Amino acid sequence: MSSSDDIHTRVTAPGGVPAMTAQGTPAAQPAAFASVDEVAARFLAHNYVCDRRTATAIHLAERLTKPILVEGPAGVGKTELAKTLAAVLGTELVRLQCYEGLDEGKALYEWEYGKQLLYTQILRDKIGEVLSGTSTLSEAVDRIGQQATAFFSEKFLLDRPLLTAIRAPHRVVLLIDEVDRAEQEFEAFLLEVLSDFQVSVPELGTLRARFPPMVILTSNNVRELSDALKRRCLHLYFDYPSAERELEIVRLRAPEAARGLSEAVVRVVQGVRTLDLKKKPSVSETLDWVRALTILNTDQLTPALAEETLNLILKYEGDIERAKEKLPELLAGKKA
Ligand SMILES: Nc1ncnc2c1ncn2[C@@H]1O[C@H](COP(=O)(O)OP(=O)(O)OP(=O)(O)O)[C@@H](O)[C@H]1O
Ligand SMILES: [Mg+2]
Repeated sequence: MSSSDDIHTRVTAPGGVPAMTAQGTPAAQPAAFASVDEVAARFLAHNYVCDRRTATAIHLAERLTKPILVEGPAGVGKTELAKTLAAVLGTELVRLQCYEGLDEGKALYEWEYGKQLLYTQILRDKIGEVLSGTSTLSEAVDRIGQQATAFFSEKFLLDRPLLTAIRAPHRVVLLIDEVDRAEQEFEAFLLEVLSDFQVSVPELGTLRARFPPMVILTSNNVRELSDALKRRCLHLYFDYPSAERELEIVRLRAPEAARGLSEAVVRVVQGVRTLDLKKKPSVSETLDWVRALTILNTDQLTPALAEETLNLILKYEGDIERAKEKLPELLAGKKA
């Protein structure tokens, strides 16, 4: 039995369906959503406010087996979209956090050298037997070479997120977070993996996903992504939400807050975002502010309290000063 056949039979779904084949075709999946409205409703049931464009992209991505690339500023719900998708589908989220210097070894797979070494120590006697009768070094190397498949088998393969998602015995959600932090070479390698959900491990052969994952890539625009990657994906841009949508998010995520307080916080944050700032507050900061004010036992945002707690939404002293100057207008709902 070849090594790839070995995997074919061993990695199986609970129902006995092979999760991955060397040459096989992806398994047909029942559609997860009947309509765009269903996507939005199920996300809402998991406390995620999905606008129509996003719900449409998810519906299409699922049907077309296409990745979604979500770009936009920090804290606007990009990562949360992938987490919620996994929860909605009732499956695992496999996350690949990108950073400068990320390479295939950390993203795809590595051989477990420590374990291989340990086995050679334990199997010293056995290896001695294999080598018995050899007289020259090259003869010994050849003899060991014949046994290499034992040490480069699935037992010693360390799955990293991309391989985990490809080998999963059912469909998972693969989040490739902050892809713009990785180098361009990594992006090119990613394109290959995403185009047909297969990878080639020289010692084992080609491993192809039988249940292609749903893939969400996020980017904060640290650098421009390649056209090739954008072409391969359905593209979404998340901006800061409208006041109406932000209030809906606050009411879902911080239900303990008084309605008037939530409205006042959203009004001020929306106004603050129109100021000329170094760093605009995101949705996560809006939520932090509402939760903090609720802990302080208030159900309304007084000017004094707002001034004392502006540091929850603004992280630079200059930005706080600017917002303080405009606080009366901001509390009244006037924008800069
Ligand atoms: N549409 C939304 N519905 C519900 N919650 C949201 C939504 N958008 C943002 N949030 C809230 O904002 C928080 C921050 O979102 P998230 O971590 O996804 O931001 P991000 O865009 O990935 O930011 P970063 O670029 O900093 O990683 C979430 O944990 C969630 O509570
Ligand atoms: Mg994120």
